[in-house]
Amino acid sequence: MRVLVVGSGGREHALVRAIAQSPMVTALFCAPGNPGIAPLATLVPIPAADVDALTSFAAANAIDLVVPGPEAPLVAGLADHLAARGVRCCGPSAAAARLEGSKQFAKEVADAAGIPTARWEAFTDSHHALDFVQRRGAPLVVKADGLAAGKGVVVAQTVAEAEAAVIACLRDKAFGHAGATVVIEECLVGHEVSVFALCDGRDAIFLGAARDYKRVGDGDIGPNTGGMGAIAPPPGFTHDTQALVMETIIRPALAEMARRGMPFTGILFAGLMLTEQGPKLIEFNVRFGDPEAETLLPLLASDLVPALVAACQGDIAGATLTWRAEASVSVVMAGAGYPNAYQRGSVIGGLERAAAGDEVSVFHAGTRTDGDKIVADGGRVLVVNAMAPSLVQARERAYAAVDAIVWPEGFCRRDIGSHF
Ligand code: AMP
Ligand code: GLY
Repeated sequence: MRVLVVGSGGREHALVRAIAQSPMVTALFCAPGNPGIAPLATLVPIPAADVDALTSFAAANAIDLVVPGPEAPLVAGLADHLAARGVRCCGPSAAAARLEGSKQFAKEVADAAGIPTARWEAFTDSHHALDFVQRRGAPLVVKADGLAAGKGVVVAQTVAEAEAAVIACLRDKAFGHAGATVVIEECLVGHEVSVFALCDGRDAIFLGAARDYKRVGDGDIGPNTGGMGAIAPPPGFTHDTQALVMETIIRPALAEMARRGMPFTGILFAGLMLTEQGPKLIEFNVRFGDPEAETLLPLLASDLVPALVAACQGDIAGATLTWRAEASVSVVMAGAGYPNAYQRGSVIGGLERAAAGDEVSVFHAGTRTDGDKIVADGGRVLVVNAMAPSLVQARERAYAAVDAIVWPEGFCRRDIGSHF
């Protein structure tokens, strides 16, 4: 089987490594990939967002399966273009990818499916939105409807903050077209968890749960990021909770999407709040999380590829995945300044020594080569993962590997896995 993975981050490095282990795979490509992926797959210099070029490449190179990492090509219709050329894609159509591309759409689907979620209303008119904020009072969550690179959500503790968020979005057009509509929600209280399911359009299997650390600073302070670390499994996430999430959130969403004529194929990512009333949906994403993929995939003890194929063929019920009963911890190393402006080009050393640690993987997220050196080339640059029988041991292994990396211009959180 000839497989193409799309993307260039740590998530794609983890996907490529899992797929490369499959005896079913005879050729593996990654577009555009990164230096960590280069030893495992043939890199193809096509940007992840270039749907036409990716489709042409897949058709011309007899690709049997495309596995997209990021959401952008999916929202732009990669799966539809590939389907038109007869190429299987383990990701949703553009219509189904609206679950991530539009928060209003996701909330409509959730309500129609009876999925527990925060009460909400959508507005395009700032007067109506401000009036609603006044009537409801704080706390409230104000969200740009469309994709805003993770920056479109404000959890407002005061009415003034909520008003400022409405004005930034609807009047000042801070997120352009993505903020032409705002969704204003009730603020949920509890513990957040990321849940993943591999879906075939009607049915799904559980792909794991992880706790993501979104804030840049220790103790969950500072601005939101793409994720500064993750742990799996989340402490306290029981088999009963898993079953409840599959029955009250994942399967109802799939049924509603199928009923609308836009069945969901691929990885469905449910961002949840575990509240006193049970798990409630915060948002859907239509892809694996990053760094959740780097945290969950190392725990996989069976072949991922047959399950990906089964998802594409509408036969996920026939697939099984087995997992190591260990704890997994990922620490993100980012360039100084992230998530704001950061420098590129600083040299990173000690990677081999770090990766030699027991049960350690070092995934490349934003690197490039400069001669024979590896240099930083992104905000999130490396994801250091370790597994062990306990969370405490996995944490120790992960930070020992982090400390073997010589990169004075980088930083990481020091408290991943120490509170949750
Ligand atoms: P999102 O981009 O929708 O994942 O939102 C970013 C973050 O905002 C989430 O990870 C939550 O921490 C927070 N958030 C979003 N919606 C809510 C909500 N209704 N209640 C509480 N926190 C929320
Ligand atoms: N780590 C959260 C995300 O991938 O969106």
